[in-house]
Amino acid sequence: MPTTFPDFPKDFVWGAATSAFQIEGAAFTDGRAASIWDTFCRTPGAIVDGSNGDIACDHYHRLDADLDLMRDLGLQAYRFSSAWSRVQPDGAGAWNQKGLDFYDRLVDGLLARGIAPYLTLYHWDLPQALQDQGGWANREVALRFVDYAETMARRFGDRLASIATHNEPWVVATLGHEQGIFAPGLKSRRTATQVSHHLLLSHGMALLAMRAAGVKAPLGIVLNQAPSVPATETDGDRAKAKLADGLLVRWYMDALFRGRYPSDVLLDLGDDAPELHDGDMAIIRTPIDFLGINYYTRSVVGEPAFTPAPGSELTDMGWEVYPQGLTELLVRLRRDYPLPPVYITENGAAFADAPDAQGRVHDGDRCRYLQRHIAAVGDAIAADVDVRGYFVWSLFDNFEWPFGYTKRFGIVHVDYATQQRTPKDSALWYREFIAAQATGAARPTL
Ligand code: FCB
Repeated sequence: MPTTFPDFPKDFVWGAATSAFQIEGAAFTDGRAASIWDTFCRTPGAIVDGSNGDIACDHYHRLDADLDLMRDLGLQAYRFSSAWSRVQPDGAGAWNQKGLDFYDRLVDGLLARGIAPYLTLYHWDLPQALQDQGGWANREVALRFVDYAETMARRFGDRLASIATHNEPWVVATLGHEQGIFAPGLKSRRTATQVSHHLLLSHGMALLAMRAAGVKAPLGIVLNQAPSVPATETDGDRAKAKLADGLLVRWYMDALFRGRYPSDVLLDLGDDAPELHDGDMAIIRTPIDFLGINYYTRSVVGEPAFTPAPGSELTDMGWEVYPQGLTELLVRLRRDYPLPPVYITENGAAFADAPDAQGRVHDGDRCRYLQRHIAAVGDAIAADVDVRGYFVWSLFDNFEWPFGYTKRFGIVHVDYATQQRTPKDSALWYREFIAAQATGAARPTL
């Protein structure tokens, strides 16, 4: 028997997400300056296929056609990010009119097609000029971010459905500054914790500045979150899972909602704990209007550090398909924190796929992944979690960070040689699903 989808509120928002560096291309066009990802891509061995973001999906030059495609897919909302080094090339001082114009065209083009624009200010592409001054490890950079946020919010705020300050600060801090596998490629736990503190501080300071400027759009932040479970019931694995949860979930949630970092994590960090100034935590705790959650998989913690449970279904990233983890996570966050409205700002899966002889992309695995996770969101709503929207990651196949163009997350296939876009079966299914939700017609079944 097919399972029917749980009910979603009438005004629930259905969308898709991208980020600037991953799709725009035009990396050095119309005054855009280098970001840390342009630099990182030129570091030998950093990107598996040796690629970069110079062209990506060439979205910058194909904006109107891409907007038409979003309309044709029936998207109600689109989450995108602005490239800081496109609008303010040095991350300080002069603004680049052509860069600002691009986002004007994007936002107005969405609104003209009835699609709600959800802006993220920082999806990892720090202007290289600011990295040259120490990057996020330098407290001054938080002040530069506030200036950028306020300018963007003043210019676009009355046309946006919401503004998120940061995307996944854990990734920036941990993968970028401790593990060194993301830009800027540093390997120091001490630096990473300081960076995470400065990211959170810049978030709180930016909220205060945007609110003081009278910006009307709801303001929030996007976190990657997941349940961390022990691989075995040994004390060792249990302790590791608790620490992993502390680093990923409680570090960010306790700071944002309780104004403190979790004491067990601080103890583990010892001398690697960040340096705080008086008043920082009160700024970080500034109330947000919404919380964005990105969910892909759970973490099974043991030896080796992170392993999918044996026998589990995996995506092309090697990530376990575990939809109920999304329900568990949301219910737990609601239990432990005074949550504002929540949006699932990213959820999706990489699978290797390509058009067949008829030009169709039959991505049944991705369809099932999306359907099961959407159902898991519905289960969380039924359990009283206030979730207001869901964004598929991603609208397009795109530049997947250190994996370059080797991992395809899109519901729209991109042929990088021709820039041809082909909606996959998942996009066609999603269109039908959104339409059925909107009209209240019989819901497609799982
Ligand atoms: C998230 C990122 C997004 C994309 C997906 C797969 O961590 O926010 O840019 O890379 O993972």
